[in-house]
Amino acid sequence: MEKRMLPYLSIIHLFLLQFPVSRILSLPFTPLDNYLIDCGGSNASTVVDSRNFVGDSTDTGSGFLSTTGTISLRDQSPSPDSSPLYQTARVFTRVSSYELGIKTNGTHLVRLHFFPFSSQNYDLSSANFHVSVNGYSLLRDFSVKTAVLKEYILNLDREKLEILFSPVGKSGFGFVNAIEVFSAPDDLIVDEGARVVDSTVIEKYTGLSSQILETVHRINVGGKKITPFNDTLWRTWIPDADFLVLDAAAKPASRHNPPNYQKGEASREIAPDNVYMTAQQMNMNNTILGAKFNITWAFPVNSSGARHLVRMHFCDIVSEKRNLLYFNVYIDDYSAYTDLDLSSLTDHMLAVPFYMDFVVHSDNSTFMHVSVGPSDLSSTLRKNAILNGVEIMKMITGVSSTSQNGSQKKKVWVLVGSILGGFSVICAAILTVLLTLKCRKKSKPKSKPKPSESVAWTPMATYRGSSHSRVSEGTPNASPGPNINLGLKIPFADIQSATNNFDKNLVIGSGGFGRVYRGVLRDNTNIAVKRGVPGSRQGLPEFQTEIMVLTKIRHRHLVSLVGYCEEQSEMILVYEYMEKGALKNHLYDSGLPPLSWKQRLEICIGSARGLHYLHTGSAQGIIHRDVKSTNILLDDNYVAKVADFGLSRSGPRLDETHVSTGVKGSFGYLDPEYFKRQQLTDKSDVYSFGVVLVEVICARPAIDPLLSSEQVNLAEWAMQWQKKGLLEQIIDPQLTGKIKPKSLKIFGETAEKCLAEYGVDRPTMGDVLWSLEYALQLQETEMEREPHEDSTTHASELPSPGVFPRIPSSNVRIQGDSSDENLGIRSSLVFSQLITNEGR
Ligand SMILES: *[C@@H]1O[C@H](CO)[C@@H](O)[C@H](O)[C@H]1NC(C)=O
Ligand SMILES: *[C@@H]1O[C@H](CO)[C@@H](O)[C@H](O)[C@H]1NC(C)=O
Ligand SMILES: *[C@@H]1O[C@H](CO)[C@@H](O)[C@H](O)[C@H]1NC(C)=O
Ligand SMILES: *[C@@H]1O[C@H](CO)[C@@H](O)[C@H](O)[C@H]1NC(C)=O
Ligand SMILES: *[C@@H]1O[C@H](CO)[C@@H](O)[C@H](O)[C@H]1NC(C)=O
Ligand SMILES: *[C@@H]1O[C@H](CO)[C@@H](O)[C@H](O)[C@H]1NC(C)=O
Ligand SMILES: *[C@@H]1O[C@H](CO)[C@@H](O)[C@H](O)[C@H]1NC(C)=O
Repeated sequence: MEKRMLPYLSIIHLFLLQFPVSRILSLPFTPLDNYLIDCGGSNASTVVDSRNFVGDSTDTGSGFLSTTGTISLRDQSPSPDSSPLYQTARVFTRVSSYELGIKTNGTHLVRLHFFPFSSQNYDLSSANFHVSVNGYSLLRDFSVKTAVLKEYILNLDREKLEILFSPVGKSGFGFVNAIEVFSAPDDLIVDEGARVVDSTVIEKYTGLSSQILETVHRINVGGKKITPFNDTLWRTWIPDADFLVLDAAAKPASRHNPPNYQKGEASREIAPDNVYMTAQQMNMNNTILGAKFNITWAFPVNSSGARHLVRMHFCDIVSEKRNLLYFNVYIDDYSAYTDLDLSSLTDHMLAVPFYMDFVVHSDNSTFMHVSVGPSDLSSTLRKNAILNGVEIMKMITGVSSTSQNGSQKKKVWVLVGSILGGFSVICAAILTVLLTLKCRKKSKPKSKPKPSESVAWTPMATYRGSSHSRVSEGTPNASPGPNINLGLKIPFADIQSATNNFDKNLVIGSGGFGRVYRGVLRDNTNIAVKRGVPGSRQGLPEFQTEIMVLTKIRHRHLVSLVGYCEEQSEMILVYEYMEKGALKNHLYDSGLPPLSWKQRLEICIGSARGLHYLHTGSAQGIIHRDVKSTNILLDDNYVAKVADFGLSRSGPRLDETHVSTGVKGSFGYLDPEYFKRQQLTDKSDVYSFGVVLVEVICARPAIDPLLSSEQVNLAEWAMQWQKKGLLEQIIDPQLTGKIKPKSLKIFGETAEKCLAEYGVDRPTMGDVLWSLEYALQLQETEMEREPHEDSTTHASELPSPGVFPRIPSSNVRIQGDSSDENLGIRSSLVFSQLITNEGR
């Protein structure tokens, strides 16, 4: 047995290792566009931090000035230590601009240096002016009393950059001492993937790269000031000491060797070595604070309603071993990330630079609070939390007009799930069930429109705004953008004619969303047409979610979308027609002929495959959230397909344990843990699938209010019997005597594991799939095996509670359906590995 498991584990390991090929170290970054202008300067080259600034009073430099009549000013009595850039300035008495040719589209940094010296004719500290870039206002009524460096990060998509200075008032004037404009590495700001941090919802933010960002703070936490000389993008990082709310809470940590930059993680251009080589950690020596406290920083911001991008840099330089450090991250009292385990995010290595982006809409207009504190997952002895660096950038509304496409304009909604927290018993009295159901329905459409950027309904969120998630770049499914696939639009008229103008006789189902009709398209495709209640916008998020999910994934065991229609006020989804309808109808209460045990197993296997693909396939981490027997449909040949993705959402990344969310789903199927803690993981689907399994074998509804109280909830009732080893007593009478005992045993054990109270104790869908395959195998062939080999009695030998040691030895049957290619090579390789290790 151990022998057989080893290859499995090592293959998984191999796949985990496959991604981070060591970064090829590491030429300094050379920007393609690179303008460094010493304004008012007359020297062709002024070297600052080993960069050459060209004076704009020289022949080359003056070419940038598109306006004549400006004044170059020299500080007559510069202080000896002031930068040569700050000894000259260019003064504008009327609207004037610099024009710079841009060679490469994409993210650029623009820095404007202001140092208000005073000379005979001009006291620069009395200047007052506006600055705009390519038409977007960056500074209004601006004046400076001390040296100020303004940095903006913006996306350019035209050949020119115009920096315009407009003096305010008649006698006003403007000035600037130096200008830097250079192109940034592509991955400095990725479009997708910052997380929105506010209230209870954690959602992805898209369109980040088309925002103009103004740097507000750039902090080297636990370390010294870093000057442009030591930063590949010539940034300045300042120490965090002045921002610590309680100095005693923090204790600096440092590391002497450079960090282990990994491909796909943060690079030196994201932040330099020195940022990652120092950190603050919890000062556990401080006995006054006890063992549980946060380290909190308060950063002054002028938000007045503005959003900020908060980029947090991490590098585990404090742990001696992996997986020891778990901590939580908070921004402005909101939970931004729970149970952060850096080593699992960074390829199980320590000291790997890593960053995460958060978009914060601060309530507190004067301070932004950033905290890190120990997670409940960390052992009492090892409670700690770290932060290596933080950048806060104000998001300036006003995106470049040419990039204002699709995602920016689209109406976007955030699901505010009804929070059913506090309940602890799923099925109490029928009354409770009904009341809660009602209540859930009512509060569901409490979607609130959000400013255009957050794409809450996007189910494909991959949170690419962290270094880790950028690993997925380049795979087709990582393609950004919530753009709904336009190729699938079906004209309303076609749907009308396909359904005989929504003929009542063609209705094959109805639900909260509206009605489902059978129809035939002109090309004779049979379709199912799900039509939202006309005119109502209820369910719009679900509608969009479903389109998003289904246009991006295709799988033999997931219902496929033929198209959709959102003309007029219609919301219509068109699916392939599933001849045999919902699994539920074949189990009870319908008069249809009963399914054989083999058919039932095959249906369970098919739907398990579909769900396994959702969780782990190329689609990456989608949680269905509404697995139940009415959402498993059967085609002509009783092939099962999972349907109804309206509630589905992207799961936690590999590295996260869960997504916090309002509870959604169907009663009787709802994961109790999810229900209690509102933390969604793919194990919630596993629980619901467990309910389906018992439904399949017992042939009765998940909730049957007419039964006695201990029987109302099928899952609980069936598990009482299963635990006594008497599941057989309550199975569908139609199956009595037809299930081979071993098959029944495995099936019952599988259902039991799926229904484990805690998600961590439940198997993955992949494990469930294997168990069901095995149950089918046992049903079909009587195998001669050692008794210990076909039971789960060895579970304790295995490293993870989710892994079942009941991989059939001689007859692993690989279903040859083509869609399994989509399962990803991971599992098929595992399978073939198992086969080749056969007989050892
Ligand atoms: C510029 O050049 C002049 C002479 O050409 C020199 O005296 C001066 O120090 C230079 N200024 C700076 C800031 O390098
Ligand atoms: C930059 O983007 C603009 C607009 O999208 C496009 O017209 C132009 O060709 C692009 N230039 C380069 C160099 O890619
Ligand atoms: C650059 O960093 C090194 C190592 O931390 C330090 O010794 C040096 O003083 C820094 N140089 C500047 C100009 O900040
Ligand atoms: C504080 O922590 C250091 C190690 O980090 C340890 O050597 C020292 O003994 C501690 N001091 C107290 C008072 O616990
Ligand atoms: C906020 O605005 C005030 C005055 O406008 C300015 O003095 C201060 O530096 C600003 N703070 C930040 C963090 O930008
Ligand atoms: C840390 O801060 C968060 C947010 O303010 C708070 O909810 C949490 O209780 C704090 N944790 C501790 C241990 O103080
Ligand atoms: C904002 O933060 C400051 C500093 O921590 C605090 O004193 C103030 O009460 C906060 N204001 C609000 C409205 O939360």
